[in-house]
Amino acid sequence: MIVDLPDLAATQALAGIIAGALVPGDVVALQGDLGAGKTTLARAVIAALGHRGEVPSPTFQIIEVYDPPAVRLPVVHADFYRLTHPAEAGEIGLDDYREGAALLAEWPDHAGGFGHEPACLTIRIEIIGNVRRAIVEPGADWLRRGLWQ
Ligand SMILES: Nc1ncnc2c1ncn2[C@@H]1O[C@H](COP(=O)(O)OP(=O)(O)O)[C@@H](O)[C@H]1O
Ligand SMILES: [Mg+2]
Repeated sequence: MIVDLPDLAATQALAGIIAGALVPGDVVALQGDLGAGKTTLARAVIAALGHRGEVPSPTFQIIEVYDPPAVRLPVVHADFYRLTHPAEAGEIGLDDYREGAALLAEWPDHAGGFGHEPACLTIRIEIIGNVRRAIVEPGADWLRRGLWQ
């Protein structure tokens, strides 16, 4: 699935679809270079889940948590860029954070990757020339939800 992201409204539309379907245990794995638009998409998902106000980039904190009632379900927004080894994801307690929550993960490969999980929705954002687009790869659980048929 390819979704063109010409502007912020397009990112927000994609985020709205994701937010509407998101359940605890899900992972949205956000791939793409620096500046691709990963944080922008994560912010839009968190906003679509109900959060109002700032969504700080987790670049330095690595993990930011959003809990109901401000959002529809618990959400963990992570940026694993600064991890030097996937094992560090365990050391910072990622499994505990993920309990009962959905995970929005930037630089997922730095945490060992999540593509093997059926509840993982992989989104790779590419910028080619002036054109920004998302390549969406739903895991089995996401395919069953029939969002992109
Ligand atoms: N769909 C889009 N259309 C136009 N600009 C975008 C879009 N998505 C992101 N941007 C802009 O690109 C820049 C980098 O986005 P960001 O989400 O911080 O990237 P990343 O987290 O991948 O490093 C920001 O200035 C943001 O406003
Ligand atoms: Mg980012």
